[in-house]
Amino acid sequence: MGRSGVIGLDIGSSAVRAAEVDVKKNPPVLTTFGQIMLPPGAVADGEIIEEEAVGATIADLWRRVGFKSKKVIVGVANQRVIVRQIEMPHMEEADLQSSLAFQVQEQLPIPVDEAILDFQILEEFTNTDNERMIRLLLVAAQRDMIESLLRTLDHARLDATVVDLVPLALLRTLGDANTTMFESGFAGTADGAEAIVDIGAGVTNIVVHENGTPRFVRILVSGGQHVTDALATALQTTSEEAEMLKRQAAFGGVPDEAKRIIEDRTNSVLEEVRGSLDYYSAQPESTGLTRVVLTGGGSCIEDLAPRLASATGIATEYGHPLASVRLGALGLTPEQLAEAEPLISVPVGLALGERQ
Ligand SMILES: Nc1ncnc2c1ncn2[C@@H]1O[C@H](COP(=O)(O)OP(=O)(O)OP(=O)(O)O)[C@@H](O)[C@H]1O
Ligand SMILES: [Mg+2]
Repeated sequence: MGRSGVIGLDIGSSAVRAAEVDVKKNPPVLTTFGQIMLPPGAVADGEIIEEEAVGATIADLWRRVGFKSKKVIVGVANQRVIVRQIEMPHMEEADLQSSLAFQVQEQLPIPVDEAILDFQILEEFTNTDNERMIRLLLVAAQRDMIESLLRTLDHARLDATVVDLVPLALLRTLGDANTTMFESGFAGTADGAEAIVDIGAGVTNIVVHENGTPRFVRILVSGGQHVTDALATALQTTSEEAEMLKRQAAFGGVPDEAKRIIEDRTNSVLEEVRGSLDYYSAQPESTGLTRVVLTGGGSCIEDLAPRLASATGIATEYGHPLASVRLGALGLTPEQLAEAEPLISVPVGLALGERQ
């Protein structure tokens, strides 16, 4: 692999996925993509439960794909990371670095000394009292969760150069107005705000942005696994059987009761997404949402885009993360590539973080 290859590693609730991207090229070139399913329960709701098992699966992926590099940009998305947009009097970045913990302690639901803090300055503005202000995206991750992530990588003999937020990775692959081509053939424009929604197995990530600047981030503990679990419980069957039924439902031959449960449980996932989008829209300074872009394995449930569109009244389309890169020799058939596309947004977006 070339030296400019950067590997993004996505530890999802159902699988681990890695993408190597040559970020020096323009457009960047996706040179490798690989994934391996995780043992059930090893990662739950985006949190690593069994460090050794997850580490072994990642090591397995490295062997199978033949990655040479041990350096990765790894993503996090679970309930133990909090993302807030905050405003404060203007301050130089260096001063902010040193005083952030003090500045934000009152605004965080967890003790600041148990958190690892990070921030991104979104913009400067002048408030109604004519004071210079800054708006930040503040990220507070619980220290023990990050330590567990790093121990897991240690088991796989990998090093994280960066721990990044999954919603920000999504923004890189799907939030670029120039590369996001919609099914209507319409390339994104500067009007209004767009929500990117990644429905996974245990987690649904939402990022609302305006021309690539994040305006709102939400990490919901909701996804396709909850649909499968509901099905397994109601039909008193195994998780594997329920998963198969769920995926089969789009093609027919599935009992009505199962279809009804899938529909009900999927609707509650969609309701949670709608609730978050409503919350964003209710913010006094929010820009109107003009579009929702869907990705993630959980978005493969039949008719999810039109269902979300009718629940929210906002045009909803499936995202095309592969449009953000040129494809190298991935060794995948067009069918395999189409199947992988909803799963590729996060690892590719993590790797693209190195470009900035
Ligand atoms: N064809 C399909 N039809 C219905 N559901 C599907 C299909 N393919 C995948 N899924 C569902 O997608 C979910 C997995 O999505 P994904 O791989 O994006 O999650 P993940 O990244 O492993 O987990 P996380 O929730 O932590 O992001 C599973 O619940 C799975 O059942
Ligand atoms: Mg995921």
